[in-house]
Amino acid sequence: MSNAPPPHRLKTTIAIIGAGDVGSTIAYTLILSSVCSEVIMVDPKTEVLEGQVRDLGDATYGGRSGTKVRVGTSKEAGQADVVVVTAGAKQRDGESRIDLLGRNLKILKSIFEPMQPIARTTVVLMVANPVDILSYFARKLSGLPENQVLGTGTSLDSARLRGELARRAEVAASSIDAYVLGEHGEGQFIAWSSASIGTAPLHHALPKDSLTDSSKREIASHTRGAAGAIIKAKGCTNYGIGSVAASLCKYILFDSHTVRPLSFYQPDLDCCLSMPAVIGRKGIVRPIHVELDEGEKEALESCAKDLRGIIEKAEK
Ligand code: LAC
Repeated sequence: MSNAPPPHRLKTTIAIIGAGDVGSTIAYTLILSSVCSEVIMVDPKTEVLEGQVRDLGDATYGGRSGTKVRVGTSKEAGQADVVVVTAGAKQRDGESRIDLLGRNLKILKSIFEPMQPIARTTVVLMVANPVDILSYFARKLSGLPENQVLGTGTSLDSARLRGELARRAEVAASSIDAYVLGEHGEGQFIAWSSASIGTAPLHHALPKDSLTDSSKREIASHTRGAAGAIIKAKGCTNYGIGSVAASLCKYILFDSHTVRPLSFYQPDLDCCLSMPAVIGRKGIVRPIHVELDEGEKEALESCAKDLRGIIEKAEK
């Protein structure tokens, strides 16, 4: 038998900042799918944090999961493979995501400072809202290369869109290639011109005459209003975002080069908003160029202009 020490165990850590409804649902999803060796949770509300970690820990002892969960410090979070930022005020009934900016930007600043120096290989996944604006500031506050800071953006809106189209087309949502782009908020738009099912343009794949202008408006408003309707009914959204964020963590750790619409820095627009991109261990591996028609280009420009306006105001 060799006396050589055992090969170093490959340990992967995901840090979740914020142990509220969203942070704990992401942790639970990561744990049940054994995406990483360890989840660490950070939150200044120590009682809630400890309660969540104990409860999440109980979910790991039955043999379903290889993931461990524990309370962590901000310093430790700064050394994680992925830092998922969920901390912040949440939308109340009738509030928009942008209404949260003042409160959540302050919280964001207090999150990154104690994490420094952040490991050069850490990827930051922003979840807290308004996610596009906060992703823009997280880039600056973290000091990480710009491809390593991204936001969940319209990946959740796109999932909601696929769900609605799936119902209408009677096809599994996962077989639909349709994207919501732009802002995770009011400025979002659907890239109808490139949407397809099994390579067939959407209007061919849906029942005859079902993709009229008015049904497109109806679908767009259903997608845009989905979070508001859920918040009105139950006070928050957590499962949809939990599933989306946990999947994105997996794509990062597994370097899977999956394509998703994500919020990342667009140098030509000087803001973060969602466009399709390849996601992997380096964060945004590369953007995917998408052909937009004239109406979609206008929607993108107007969305970027609005986001720039909000950023400039917040910077003052
Ligand atoms: C939602 C929250 C995450 O859309 O913004 O459910």
